Amino acid sequence: MNLSYSICKQAQPLISFTGGLNTNSLNFHNRKDKVVVVMGATGTGKSRLSIDLATHFQAEIINSDKIQVYKGLDIVTNKVTEEECRGIPHHLLGIKDPDADYNATNFRHDALLAIESIIEQDKLPIIAGGSNSFIESLVNDDPYFASRYDCCFLWVDLSLPILQRFVSERVDQMVEAGLLEEVRGVFDPEANYTQGIRRAIGVPEFDSFLRAEGKNTDQEILDTLLHLAIDEVKENTWKLACRQLQKIHRLRDFWGWNLHHIDATEVFLKQGEDAHEAWKRLIVGPSVMTVAQFLYRPTSVQNFPKSPSTTVIPRTVPSMAAMATASH
Ligand SMILES: *[C@@H]1O[C@H](CO)[C@@H](O)[C@H](O)[C@H]1NC(C)=O
Ligand SMILES: *[C@@H]1O[C@H](CO)[C@@H](O)[C@H](O)[C@H]1NC(C)=O
Repeated sequence: MNLSYSICKQAQPLISFTGGLNTNSLNFHNRKDKVVVVMGATGTGKSRLSIDLATHFQAEIINSDKIQVYKGLDIVTNKVTEEECRGIPHHLLGIKDPDADYNATNFRHDALLAIESIIEQDKLPIIAGGSNSFIESLVNDDPYFASRYDCCFLWVDLSLPILQRFVSERVDQMVEAGLLEEVRGVFDPEANYTQGIRRAIGVPEFDSFLRAEGKNTDQEILDTLLHLAIDEVKENTWKLACRQLQKIHRLRDFWGWNLHHIDATEVFLKQGEDAHEAWKRLIVGPSVMTVAQFLYRPTSVQNFPKSPSTTVIPRTVPSMAAMATASH
């Protein structure tokens, strides 16, 4: 799959060469295209930051949350609302049937297509979402991606006690917003929770409650089951956040990814307008700077003369490594 895909895509700029307006086609042989990746545990504000960045730079967002790729359960899966999107196009968000399988291989394929289509419009792709295994698979395991793209990784982080409190409060807000009605809507006593969107945290936890509800159970028992379910959602969300953080640490420490760490703790300690202002000052400002440096700094390869008569283009060590991987 990867080999034929990469051959197909590499041939494309030559076929679709339009006479020079598309800088991506012109620079195809001597520079990598740029991709921004926004990482972080659930609840840290990845979606918000990616949308803020997309409004500063001409960008579109590619979702990398394995549950948000599915249609439906918008509250349970915490999808951005149309209002929150502020007109920024999102890819791979709510596109799959709720029962479909979707794995890292599917993501790599779809994300590469989305990246290409965004770059063809001379826009910046921003990948944002909590499934670090998807991002790792794209960045580490896809030779085509490695040879073709440069990444800037932003990591939105929070102190653990604040994150734990926040994810817990967020579950209560989801319940108020109608989480239970959504889950009732997909409840099927015959089905299990191993496939598709029904694996989402916030669905299996309500199984006992919904079964009891279907049997005219005593209200007091129902209330207890409901509270137990909500507590379990909080606990499972917190466990997810911890797994996400472990994975991010591993990507940094073991794989040596250069993650730009952004601490949002202070923002989450504030309320209302103060929090809004702190978000802009402490999160958006520095992130915009980091991305601007990444986008506009001259890359090592660009420093060499671009004359068409250059027969041998000297390469830096990283691109040699990328090329070697690409040819496997
Ligand atoms: C993902 O699913 C596809 C089928 O859609 C399959 O061919 C592929 O082997 C799976 N990849 C992994 C890593 O399980
Ligand atoms: C869960 O349900 C799916 C189809 O609905 C089935 O293919 C799968 O074997 C079931 N898994 C278990 C563990 O029962």
